[in-house]
Amino acid sequence: MNSLENSSYDGPLGDLVHRLTQSFTSEHSRPPQWIVAAPGRVNLIGEHIDYNDGYVLPMAIERYVAIAAAPRLGKGSRVASIRSVNLNECEQIDLDELPKPSLPPKWTGYMGGVFAGFQNRMGADKFSQLPAMDVMFESNVPIGGGLSSSAALEVATATLLEVVSGITLELEEKALLCQQAEHDYAGVPCGIMDQFSSVFGQENAFMLLDCRSQQIRHVPFSSDHVSVLITNSNVKHELSGGEYAQRRAQCDSALEKIGAASWRDVTPDDLESNKSSLSEIEYSRASHVVSEIERTQKAAVAIESGLWETLGELMYASHHSLQHDYEVSCCELDLLVEIARGVGRAGGVYGSRMTGGGFGGCTVTLIESDKVVEVSEHIQRQYKKQCGIDAQLFASLPAKGAHTVSS
Ligand code: GLA
Repeated sequence: MNSLENSSYDGPLGDLVHRLTQSFTSEHSRPPQWIVAAPGRVNLIGEHIDYNDGYVLPMAIERYVAIAAAPRLGKGSRVASIRSVNLNECEQIDLDELPKPSLPPKWTGYMGGVFAGFQNRMGADKFSQLPAMDVMFESNVPIGGGLSSSAALEVATATLLEVVSGITLELEEKALLCQQAEHDYAGVPCGIMDQFSSVFGQENAFMLLDCRSQQIRHVPFSSDHVSVLITNSNVKHELSGGEYAQRRAQCDSALEKIGAASWRDVTPDDLESNKSSLSEIEYSRASHVVSEIERTQKAAVAIESGLWETLGELMYASHHSLQHDYEVSCCELDLLVEIARGVGRAGGVYGSRMTGGGFGGCTVTLIESDKVVEVSEHIQRQYKKQCGIDAQLFASLPAKGAHTVSS
């Protein structure tokens, strides 16, 4: 491989990759042959509408899952022997008998699901030629924090298998293969946002993803004056899995009663004229979906025009809708948004909202760049004071999607 000292690689992943290379080399007494990385994501707006044919506006973040690997030495069974650095656990995936899905999902399941997807894609014969491997991975995407740590692991695994097998998937196919792994192996009927963000991420751009056509329009974002601040509430309420599937079912049932083929065909007027045929809950869920689709399109235009106040207002409105109509927020996320709102425009904050699946995880705040440190400290202090929990905050620029670091 290109040793990292000799390679020109020095992106934001640098520390993670260097550390991982050292750990791999010291554990296996040889350097890795392949290193790949895939980012987490933060969604600026367009929440819980990727599975409703809506638009989403995420960006990949400068937090990655990095995987290092090399063929195993000597003869032995065809396994991938994988160490998770974060969890300090080592597990084996038998390449001749891939693991079956099991609940609750483990990290081996996310990876095993992608191996299974590759086996289908390559055909059993070619898959059986993959070598036994020593694998090690480390993540600096907060785990379970609503920033798609699992999608990043899936996409990094797919990137590793591409480089090992020499088979490069179309980007869209790769994202869908990883989404399927999440459905089958984690039991979460997620939409396409997380895996698409990790695969298609670009520096200096948000991506407006049309989840109906699966087309992406990159929306340039390189303002020196405006930053994206991510705040991890450090809470995760246990409801998330079942509640997610339930929200999907409520939306599907509302759409069927409205009699439309897609939420994209439902206008606010259609919703009102069908109100009496929907249950109260279905009407609330539908109100969120219809209004969030509209807000997300407006948000993309606002970014293109540099209208940060407008974007900020759309973010607050999105949070309100997720809190009251979609009911996927929680008191800690509401508190973080309120603290940011309290800082207000005078203090440099444009807008704030929960991001990701909800019931805990992170908020995303749009803020004047020169106020990031001051406002971060304020949010952290107030949050600790009011609910006793330490929040983690960091700003991120839009980051590059999954790629091979070294091979
Ligand atoms: C999770 C899912 C995504 C999306 C978000 C909510 O992150 O994996 O597909 O539905 O929740 O927007």
